[in-house]
Amino acid sequence: MNLSRPLFSVEEARKRARKRLPRMIFDFIDGASGDETLRDFNTEAMDNIRLMPRILLDVSERDTSTSVLGTTAGLPFGMAPMGMCSLAWPGADMIMAREAARRRIPLCVSTASSSPLETIIERAEGHAWFQLYADQSIEFVDELVDKAMAADYEVLILTVDVPIPSVRARDLRNGFKVPMTWGPRQIWDLATHPGWSLAMMMHSLSHGIPRPMNYAASNHATRFVRNASRGLADWAFLDRLRDRWKGKLVVKGVLCPEDAVRIKSMGVDGIYVSNHGGRQLNAAPPAIDALGKIRAAVGDTMPLIFDSGIRSGEHVIKALASGADFVMLGRSVMYGLGAGGATGLSDILDLTGNEASAIMGLLGHTDIESIDRNSLASSHEHLSLRTVNRSIAE
Ligand SMILES: Cc1cc2nc3c(=O)[nH]c(=O)nc-3n(C[C@H](O)[C@H](O)[C@H](O)COP(=O)(O)O)c2cc1C
Repeated sequence: MNLSRPLFSVEEARKRARKRLPRMIFDFIDGASGDETLRDFNTEAMDNIRLMPRILLDVSERDTSTSVLGTTAGLPFGMAPMGMCSLAWPGADMIMAREAARRRIPLCVSTASSSPLETIIERAEGHAWFQLYADQSIEFVDELVDKAMAADYEVLILTVDVPIPSVRARDLRNGFKVPMTWGPRQIWDLATHPGWSLAMMMHSLSHGIPRPMNYAASNHATRFVRNASRGLADWAFLDRLRDRWKGKLVVKGVLCPEDAVRIKSMGVDGIYVSNHGGRQLNAAPPAIDALGKIRAAVGDTMPLIFDSGIRSGEHVIKALASGADFVMLGRSVMYGLGAGGATGLSDILDLTGNEASAIMGLLGHTDIESIDRNSLASSHEHLSLRTVNRSIAE
């Protein structure tokens, strides 16, 4: 397999990652809960949105930067929080941090990151947000929050859609656990993917075996258990966190408009609409369907971050037109890393950004912040010819 061949689509990256990664690692990334239909519904729902091109406008110069939660980003998207990224490629956390710095986009650092949260924000030159799981004990959570504050994180994301672990059939079938357990199945998997296994072994000799470093570095955490409940978070916990965290606070994993309204009333700075890429409640609605409803419920000014199912720059623009202020890439990033490490990730970010810029121009926009629901083809359906003629006459 030629890892240096450029990537031209996320699907291409996914196929290459599938070949290169041991089955259990690819399935951990690609897999979802239940019968995995929601993961694909997310993307299909994005595909089904139609946009309305506008013409005879000068769109030769376009600016893809945007501001979100008091920060400026070079692109309208960043990288979603993902635990144990370094299983896709040795040192993936640091590769992502370098890309975040280079492109001035936020990297969401998972509680279960493979490098300490302090190291990642330093490498990302400040372009990092910290994602918090209310895991294990209040002492551990407070310690993480204090460390994030001390490391100058400005944005904290509390993930709330993992009150209990979901059932993911592929992980069960593969016996995938963290820390890993070694039986004949797992050993065979590694032996039949020598490229990944050798690269991991070499990297581990100098950097140690990838493990969730925020747990390893804690005075309060017990051993990281991947399938543990993160159920310490309830409304009272959120209230307490709002008091404790002085920076911008975002709640991730919101789908219900009523929940969004309550979160807004608690002084939270942003709502992150997401169904965890279909990895939690498989029966939940496609995240893009929830986005429009949440925007209608919370009004125009509440910052909304969006992920789940984004596989292209076209999807990014569709999410912005549907009410998002900013978008995050989940598996797209992991497929890029799995396909070709730093080069693979860079290709994915390039092609997503370039396509977003092109679609923006085809819609008649030269800047990100002017994209709104008027770019949705459905928002033009109510216009009768008479209304159009009247608006021309005015
Ligand atoms: C391998 C993997 C690990 C993840 N780990 C976390 C995590 O630690 N914290 C979190 O809030 N979300 C986590 N997520 C969910 C992502 O942040 C994001 O919501 C999801 O991937 C978006 O869907 P998409 O992959 O279809 O784009 C993870 C997702 C993947 C694929």
